[in-house]
Amino acid sequence: MKSFEKTLRILITAGPTREYIDPVRYLSNDSSGQMGFSLAAAARRLGCDVTLVAGPVALPTPAGVKRIDVISARDMQCAVTKVSAKTDVIIMAAAVADWRPSRTSRAKIKKTTASSKPHSIALIENPDILAELGKKKKPHQILVGFALETEKLERNARAKLAHKRCDWIVANLSTSIGARQSSAILISADGRRTPLPRLLKEDLAVVILSHVLG
Ligand code: CTP
Repeated sequence: MKSFEKTLRILITAGPTREYIDPVRYLSNDSSGQMGFSLAAAARRLGCDVTLVAGPVALPTPAGVKRIDVISARDMQCAVTKVSAKTDVIIMAAAVADWRPSRTSRAKIKKTTASSKPHSIALIENPDILAELGKKKKPHQILVGFALETEKLERNARAKLAHKRCDWIVANLSTSIGARQSSAILISADGRRTPLPRLLKEDLAVVILSHVLG
């Protein structure tokens, strides 16, 4: 892999976000953070200056990596916005929750306050961090997204690549969420398509970086 003339600054997001309903309940997903943490460790081994914005996960910080912990999608948006302008490569490996409750109760919601009718929670859409990054991308920046799909893997991933103005998208099936291994298809904005074999996420991270960083 290439060794860089100037230190490359990489921002990587990892893990799920949590959207609180009340102080003890939240909406989230099964992301373990393993993919993003593996990318951060591999980028650091290549000599990059790495910032890792991590949702709530139980993983140790890779050596030499700057870590910013966040909880919700809006926290992640805030942390990413602060750092993104000063980075060369941004990899959004986080499984950002698409919706949050329209209000978070300050007190635990008690069963006794609910009626016997079905209880519903009003949801509002979270910001799409990757799409925002795509809109303000600088010419020198490389933007990488992930697409997690249950069906029409490539078609949906290509639509996300275009809509969010990424340079690359890593398309993978929903079975890879929380798993130690994953296969993927790496698709570039200029039409290259590279199927990546099923590998441990640590190894997949090295392969992804070898393509993205050239
Ligand atoms: N993403 C983001 N902000 C969101 C949702 C997703 O930045 N609010 C990013 C993810 O980090 C990932 C990419 O967008 O890099 C695609 O995420 P994915 O969950 O596959 O798709 P969505 O855009 O959420 O679309 P859908 O849920 O309809 O598949």
